[in-house]
Amino acid sequence: MKIAIINGPNLNLLGKRETDIYGNMSFDKFLEQLKAKYPQVVFSYFQSNIEGELINEIQKAGYEYNGIVLNPAGYTHTSVAIGDAIAAIKAPVIEVHISNVHAREDFRKLSHVSGKAAGSIFGLGLKGYELAVEYLLSRTS
Ligand code: DQA
Repeated sequence: MKIAIINGPNLNLLGKRETDIYGNMSFDKFLEQLKAKYPQVVFSYFQSNIEGELINEIQKAGYEYNGIVLNPAGYTHTSVAIGDAIAAIKAPVIEVHISNVHAREDFRKLSHVSGKAAGSIFGLGLKGYELAVEYLLSRTS
């Protein structure tokens, strides 16, 4: 089982950025724990602040991996092209948001990703990534 985790802009600052919303843990630290919990999964991790790089990675992982856990961050609300990339690939995509985007500003309620994703998880903190992995594992077992 191969799962690609892809994070969008500013998520490289997790643990330092708006900690009241996003928490204190860095993604690297979280990823270590996730890998230890699921030794049977081959994980790849990619983060970029650049929309086109995220699209390239979605396209690549979309034909090489069994599933993608994607947090497009701010691009969720603006990027038609990321939505199109998800529609173009084979692998199921689970959209994850750390915060509850529906309890924040109105512009965060629009997602160009949700309609193309297999499912979406929001508001459950970093646990959302783990639940997405659980779901992808359950699809293949
Ligand atoms: C986010 C929510 C987005 O609205 C925001 O732009 C982010 C992070 C989240 O994980 O809660 O950067 O995707």
